[in-house]
Amino acid sequence: MAYNLLTGKKGIIFGALNEMSIAWKVAEKAVEEGAQVVLSNTPMALRMGDTNQLAEKLNSLVVPCDATEVDDIENLIKEAMDHFGGKFDFILHSIGMSPNVRKGRHYSDLDYNFLAKTLDISAVSFHKVIQTARKNDALNEWGSILGLSYVAAQRTFYGYNDMADAKSLLESIARSFGYIYGREKNVRINTISQSPTQTTAGQGVKGFDKLVDFSERMSPLGNASADDCANYCVVMFSDLTKKVTMQNLFHDGGFSNMGMSLRAIEQYNKSFEYDKEHPFD
Ligand SMILES: NC(=O)c1ccc[n+]([C@@H]2O[C@H](COP(=O)([O-])OP(=O)(O)OC[C@H]3O[C@@H](n4cnc5c(N)ncnc54)[C@H](O)[C@@H]3O)[C@@H](O)[C@H]2O)c1
Repeated sequence: MAYNLLTGKKGIIFGALNEMSIAWKVAEKAVEEGAQVVLSNTPMALRMGDTNQLAEKLNSLVVPCDATEVDDIENLIKEAMDHFGGKFDFILHSIGMSPNVRKGRHYSDLDYNFLAKTLDISAVSFHKVIQTARKNDALNEWGSILGLSYVAAQRTFYGYNDMADAKSLLESIARSFGYIYGREKNVRINTISQSPTQTTAGQGVKGFDKLVDFSERMSPLGNASADDCANYCVVMFSDLTKKVTMQNLFHDGGFSNMGMSLRAIEQYNKSFEYDKEHPFD
């Protein structure tokens, strides 16, 4: 059911690679709610992924952009403004990648060139996008910028590796720039800290399936899906959340405030049953 929350609004959505992508669902929901969107991804992702199919379906423009390259972002913002006929209202940064995770480097044995890439792609690019939008005065007053984060920014999750450091930086950028852009133009900047979600990026994390299961058992409302996340993003782009800024918003079925759930501890206890039955193994 649509609520027309984004009627007349326009925005850029980064990161829709395939139909599992969180950004894919956000783009679909945003258009369903009345928005016009410009989609963006790296030239490589545009070749290998399905972004163009989504663009056809949503009747939207696709502009290639490596979000670590300021010249690419400049070009994207200019093309989006030409396309929309002026300023626009929202940006979704749904970008993450760690070469250390991809190459299986342990956190105690990081490759520092890879670490620099992780931070640039997954966090500093957020700053680059916001800075470029601001310099081009691209956003309307009361515009909304969102990044996607994970609770590993606050707590240790084995296997999340240097992405945890990237997410901490991402959340910090939302606060630091949120102050500046808020004072000047009433533009709000937030991050949404999402449950583990089955996507191409998610599946790169070591032990991801077990993490999804653990988190499902720990969260009173269960994990939030990509579709649930899209709903939250739409609300955050809408005029209903004008005074929310500089926040990291947990969207995780309650996981981040849990200590131990009954469902999780029962599962944990099962692992001791074998020990009791086979004391001499
Ligand atoms: N999947 C999860 O469990 C989960 C949980 C919390 C937060 N997140 C975050 O959600 C966001 C979206 O990830 P997803 O899970 O939808 O996976 P995804 O793989 O579908 O999306 C990641 C996107 O980042 C893009 N990207 C990579 N390098 C880029 C660059 N240099 N410039 C521009 N784009 C680039 C990829 O092409 C891809 O489209 C990421 O920030 C991710 O960390 C994911």
